[in-house]
Amino acid sequence: MSRFLQDKNILLGLTGGIACYKSAELARLLVREGAEVFVLMSQAAQQFITPLTMQSLTGHAVATDLFALSHELQIGHIRLADMANAYVIAPATADVLAKLSSGQADDVVTTVALATRAPLLVAPSMNVNMFEHPLVQRNVERLRSAGYRVIPPGEGELACGWHGKGRLAEPAVLLAEVERAVTPQDLAGEKVLVTAGPTREFLDPVRFLTNRSSGKMGFALAAAAWRRGANVILVAGPVTLATPHGVERRDVVSAEDMFEAVKQEFPRATILLMCAAVADYRPAARQNRKIKKQKAAWSLALEPTVDILAAVTPHKEQQFVVGFAAETEQLEASAQGKLQQKGLDLVVANDVSQPGAGMEADFNAAILLDRFGGHLALPLMSKIDLAEAILDRVIELRKRVAGT
Ligand code: PMT
Repeated sequence: MSRFLQDKNILLGLTGGIACYKSAELARLLVREGAEVFVLMSQAAQQFITPLTMQSLTGHAVATDLFALSHELQIGHIRLADMANAYVIAPATADVLAKLSSGQADDVVTTVALATRAPLLVAPSMNVNMFEHPLVQRNVERLRSAGYRVIPPGEGELACGWHGKGRLAEPAVLLAEVERAVTPQDLAGEKVLVTAGPTREFLDPVRFLTNRSSGKMGFALAAAAWRRGANVILVAGPVTLATPHGVERRDVVSAEDMFEAVKQEFPRATILLMCAAVADYRPAARQNRKIKKQKAAWSLALEPTVDILAAVTPHKEQQFVVGFAAETEQLEASAQGKLQQKGLDLVVANDVSQPGAGMEADFNAAILLDRFGGHLALPLMSKIDLAEAILDRVIELRKRVAGT
């Protein structure tokens, strides 16, 4: 399993809000992902959750006081600041936003924020009226312009009884943001268009032709590209997966719908990762009413769908285009044919008959063939790791294109 936080030192600052209970869950997730988590708590945070809880979850002493003799002797706030790979303050109250945005440092949470050179993240959490107050919004903007990553609160029922924007972002969202903060942003400035999942080609209102694609490979690529700094648009066929945090998703059903979405997004994209298992054929006619069962044998007339890749690659300008080849025989020869016929820069060939790999599985293996004659075999690994390896190769090849 990929652990992007393995051996990273993550500082987690808590200030006084009811959402402190969610920070306990965040600490647990960070530890599970391999991070060393060091918690800092304001006096007010300690009214909501105890340092003992956070110490038990992280296995490290909690910093609560700039002048605590034993903590300063063991770790010390400047050492904490220096050793951090990222510092996330969650929940961040209106009070701490005001202090941070004016450069105040009157407790351990704010002092370490000034002292560290690690990426800083703040996750505000408060009553909706407080959050929308112009002074709070001004402080949020100030923090953004000082380089803080502000993770906006979610909308919904608030502990104070109001409904609106103010809930601390969910721990899984905060985890994704921390992972991104410690990841080299080698796709910053890129606009990555990813397609994922199957398409459905209807023959009548209740029946369709489709395939086993789950979308896992494409969703892993979208999540990885966002983590590495890209703006990501994910065009997804019908799948049951949650949208990766940070990714903009467009849902489509048929090959025709996917073609329309890709056609619209392609001109602005710099990289296209065409991972979807698009149907090659669709029923020649779609009936408006459910087709009645008959006794006699019945054959279905099919017609080819649009080949999305072949249709967009002639309009290629800055885009680096990656196709996938799902094969059950003659893996490399068939993939090589697709590389050339579809005008691709890179093709990811996967054997979808290999047990434990390909469609629906959490793992996959692939051979990467590129238009420069390169050949890279990637052994069986999680789709999360494979997504990273594919993006590594894309970046390497794009550098080569830029250098030529
Ligand atoms: O979704 P998962 O369960 O995680 O499985 C991942 C996967 C096996 C689906 C994925 O790794 C994969 O191989 N995707 C491509 C599947 C496919 O349609 O392959 P193909 O060899 O039939 O098509 C070649 C390329 O042309 C693909 O990039 C495909 O998106 C594209 N294509 C295909 C048909 C079509 N009408 N238009 C297209 O653009």
